[in-house]
Amino acid sequence: MAKVVIMDHPLIKHKIGYIRREETGTKDFRQTVSEIAMLICYEATRDLELSDVTIKTPICETTVKELKGKKMAIIPILRAGLGMVDGVLELIPAAKVGHIGLYRDPETHKPVEYYCKLPEDCGEREVFVVDPMLATGGSAAAAISMLKDKGCKNIHFMCIIAAPEGLEVLKEAHPDVDIYVGALDEKLNEHAYIVPGLGDAGDRIFGTK
Ligand code: PRP
Ligand code: URA
Repeated sequence: MAKVVIMDHPLIKHKIGYIRREETGTKDFRQTVSEIAMLICYEATRDLELSDVTIKTPICETTVKELKGKKMAIIPILRAGLGMVDGVLELIPAAKVGHIGLYRDPETHKPVEYYCKLPEDCGEREVFVVDPMLATGGSAAAAISMLKDKGCKNIHFMCIIAAPEGLEVLKEAHPDVDIYVGALDEKLNEHAYIVPGLGDAGDRIFGTK
């Protein structure tokens, strides 16, 4: 069983509180989502492997730690996942970026696929799937299944807000995937929106409502 980590950092809590407010406008919402993504990424990369390398400082020779250099990929689930990409790239600037397009059918709440473009060698990469919202869990579970079909093995999922229902669905569907959650909320409402949540993440990032 992989791990589920719920963030416990005051900066993350403060920033999530800010984006939950209905009066937070598009520009600030977008900026803060990016900052939260960077902070969650810091936690999600905690277990990356290191190796010892001998270098010379201006004073003497010494051994330092270096990332083992496993290649990485960031995969946002469109649209809202795009809001997390820049924040993650701040910490992992050399990562390749793939895109998976899914939207939730408003009636059934089931994910509908409309786009998939991944780095050619994504099967050899450490993959970080990003989406601010884990509600029913359908979109995240479907995106990760698509990645596994393309040969991805080392998959991590990062979200800003999760509902308990979605977290259970994702754990059950993909027990091998590490899950990093900014805040675990109370429940889903009758429209499968997260309560208290922050509303529609895509609309708030892109100002479409
Ligand atoms: C939102 C969100 C997730 C999905 C979560 O996307 O960004 O992808 O809903 O819901 P689920 O866990 O119940 O599947 P949405 O379908 O609204 O599309 P958008 O990002 O294009 O707005
Ligand atoms: N998608 C969102 O953007 N918000 C929710 O609360 C649920 C799904």
